[in-house]
Amino acid sequence: MITYMRLGKIPPKPHVTFYEDGKLLMEQCHTREGFEGSYSILYFKTPPTDENAVERLAIPGFCPFEPLNEQLLYRRHIKTQNIAVKGDFLDARRVLVFNSDVNISMVKPTEKSTRFFSNGDGEDLYFVYKGTGRFETQFGVLPFRERDYVLIPRGTPYRLHWDGPNPELLVFEGRGFIDIPKEFRNRAGQITDYAPFCNRDFRAPETLLTYSEANHGKAPFKLVVKREDQLTVHLHKHFPIDVVGWDGSVYPVAFNIHDYTPRMGAVHLPPTTHITFAGNAFVVCSFVPRKVDYYDRDGVKAIPCPYGHASVHMDEILFYVDGNFTSRRGIESGSISLHPAGIPHGPHPGTYEKSIGHDRTSELAVMCDTYKQLKLTTFGHDLEDKDYHLTWVARESGGADAPGAR
Ligand SMILES: [Fe+2]
Repeated sequence: MITYMRLGKIPPKPHVTFYEDGKLLMEQCHTREGFEGSYSILYFKTPPTDENAVERLAIPGFCPFEPLNEQLLYRRHIKTQNIAVKGDFLDARRVLVFNSDVNISMVKPTEKSTRFFSNGDGEDLYFVYKGTGRFETQFGVLPFRERDYVLIPRGTPYRLHWDGPNPELLVFEGRGFIDIPKEFRNRAGQITDYAPFCNRDFRAPETLLTYSEANHGKAPFKLVVKREDQLTVHLHKHFPIDVVGWDGSVYPVAFNIHDYTPRMGAVHLPPTTHITFAGNAFVVCSFVPRKVDYYDRDGVKAIPCPYGHASVHMDEILFYVDGNFTSRRGIESGSISLHPAGIPHGPHPGTYEKSIGHDRTSELAVMCDTYKQLKLTTFGHDLEDKDYHLTWVARESGGADAPGAR
């Protein structure tokens, strides 16, 4: 999704004969926006159409999920720390908030899976909260580590796999698209020199996926496909990801949040400064440890703590990962705050003043701003700290690392 690449064996041109061991390989074009957008071309030993049954599947809480009936405009705090769902990377996935552009889920898989998943509704952008492992995809194997973003293009068969402790991941399902912001690309598609990341920061699969019975089980092989919030299971007689090579511009990438190069100013810059990915009517931003605003002239100093704001066009969620969150009462690593459009929010009382003179913040957080209202699912609602809305009232608060509060 970043630039053209190739992996494995491919013929000299698309749409020509290409054999392996005397057998004609099956070319498969993975195209976007019909045939107008970016694409990749893969070569399969066994055609990916080789399937012999389709079954219905429902995973309540993921697909379908249950919207909350009534949602008053509270500032909300969702405690993902309390999620205790068992299952593989699909059974354990739970949608917390959603709108027609993006679903935001958490998945803490407890079981390995032999099934693969293809999301026909949009891109899956993972943020690895805990753990290491690998995404096994039709474009190859993409290892991940803690604090990685992993962007899986729409319609890519993949599974999440790991060897050590169970991982925990936040997932943005972008219904239209998810990409790096277009303003960070030059006319040639290269990432510009003034972007907060560079081409070198993005990792792509380096090895093709190879089948092993111990790892992937026996036939029938299951590929779960999501489209229009309906899951179907496609049963294959042969391992469906039997690729000898591919080339193109569509493939999964990984990017570690610590490779994000933060920007700071003489006075406070708005959160959009931290943009990392853009989707259809939403953005994902990265807040990483950094120096903070430094204006200091004639006794007038920058206030590093963000100003209060009522972002009247956008809902905002913040996933708190690491650092000191004492500026937000009750917030801990793994918490998600939801601040709805039109309702003022900002630092808790006391933290604004205490931030003056600070020169660093250690916060690590992921933010998502959306134009359409983010609605809660009943699962997300059950995880809520119901007192959060009123925690701005009255008593003093604040800690040594206050500048990070959004
Ligand atoms: Fe905010």
